[in-house]
Amino acid sequence: MKIAVIGTGYVGLVTGTCLAETGNDVICVDINEAKVKKMQDGEVPIYEPGLDLLFHRNIAQGRLIFTTDLAMAIKESKVIFMALPTPPGGDGAADLSYILGAAKDISNLVTEYKIIINKSTVPVGTADKVKAVFTANTDIEVDVVSNPEFLREGVAVEDFMKPDRVVIGTRSEKAKKVLTDLYGPYVRQGNPILFMDERSSELTKYAANSFLATKITFMNEVANLCELVGADVDAVRKGVGSDDRIGKRFLFPGIGYGGSCFPKDVQALVKAADENNYDFQILKSVMEINEKQKTILVDKVLKYYKNDIKGKHFALWGLAFKPETDDVREAPALYIIDALVKEGATVTVFDPEGMENVKNMIGDKVEFAADQYSALNNADALLIATEWSVFRNPDFDKIDILLKNKVVFDGRNLYDLEKMIDMGYYYNSIGRKL
Ligand code: UGA
Repeated sequence: MKIAVIGTGYVGLVTGTCLAETGNDVICVDINEAKVKKMQDGEVPIYEPGLDLLFHRNIAQGRLIFTTDLAMAIKESKVIFMALPTPPGGDGAADLSYILGAAKDISNLVTEYKIIINKSTVPVGTADKVKAVFTANTDIEVDVVSNPEFLREGVAVEDFMKPDRVVIGTRSEKAKKVLTDLYGPYVRQGNPILFMDERSSELTKYAANSFLATKITFMNEVANLCELVGADVDAVRKGVGSDDRIGKRFLFPGIGYGGSCFPKDVQALVKAADENNYDFQILKSVMEINEKQKTILVDKVLKYYKNDIKGKHFALWGLAFKPETDDVREAPALYIIDALVKEGATVTVFDPEGMENVKNMIGDKVEFAADQYSALNNADALLIATEWSVFRNPDFDKIDILLKNKVVFDGRNLYDLEKMIDMGYYYNSIGRKL
């Protein structure tokens, strides 16, 4: 199938590459000339495990090309994916200007039937708005389809190649047929392609992310309570998660959810509800609790040092909002750094992939270490913000030598509590005994 993907951000690039992998001819379009040039030269602009291999293979075989030429891409393709940013606008609602702008450009270029698919996370009613742009600009028949993306950063390729489900919002039989063919190779194990109307599909995406954010937030509150009543959240988590109705996944407490999706999507759903005079109370609480949870590690630090950390020096392991990504958007680590520095402390950080992005954002606030151990040099304590595998089994003898004191504040519960106590550490984690 001939496909165009408009926008080569995270979703667009993974979508384009994975669509090429099943034999489609994919043209990826971006307005950023420098980025397009880099990709043409074989450079993958993001860190995502497994993407490199597919990217290079499909470029080499001529199935994946990059261009700034929208007209050529539209002419060549029957199916056009839009994977464009929908940043929160000033009022919290998603800003649709990129999507509606692209729709207008495309509508001026179409000369025959096309299927326009929106992959971005968008408010309910966006497909109708996009359709209206086409109706206003052209007589050519187009189907505007909602097809939200559920992939997770860090496992995006696997999620795309073997999705739990594919959600497609369209009432057009013609579009359904084409998309059944397109997605067939990805659901061979029997996972469903769920067809529904456009609005239900758009809402499904927000509801899914908001539910997951709620699940995490619920466990974060349970963890906070565990600390007060002397219970262990790891035990509680297993006890709760073994009920199939609840499930084991996404129950890990920590220092709040971050990233480019959950915070934005929960906010957007609250906003959409407000606009429809519905008070989505549970999500409002989720947002509020998550804000507090992002600096809970700092509260613990302040309590330990009796509210005085002026002149203290901390090592921070982990910057990315989660492992296996270089993405630091809304990362709890950034809030932790900010709070520590405001209290007069200094911080040396290490992250396997996220340091470049942090340098560009707040490079003047922290020191960057070349590896996880040199970050510890002369630090009063170690703080852990991201559960990278490389932090899971460190050399504690080395840590002993480098850290001034055996003090660890762990926002991701990486270590065995008893072992840490046996080794003589003051080990403060989330939802577990001290
Ligand atoms: C999330 C969804 O999981 C994807 O299904 C969705 O497609 C994506 O948003 C999106 O809308 O594009 P992602 O943001 O990549 O994916 O990351 P997650 O793995 O979902 O993690 C989100 C946050 O929740 C992270 O900060 C993570 O540390 C936190 N989390 C996750 C927990 O605190 N506890 C858990 O048990 C799981």
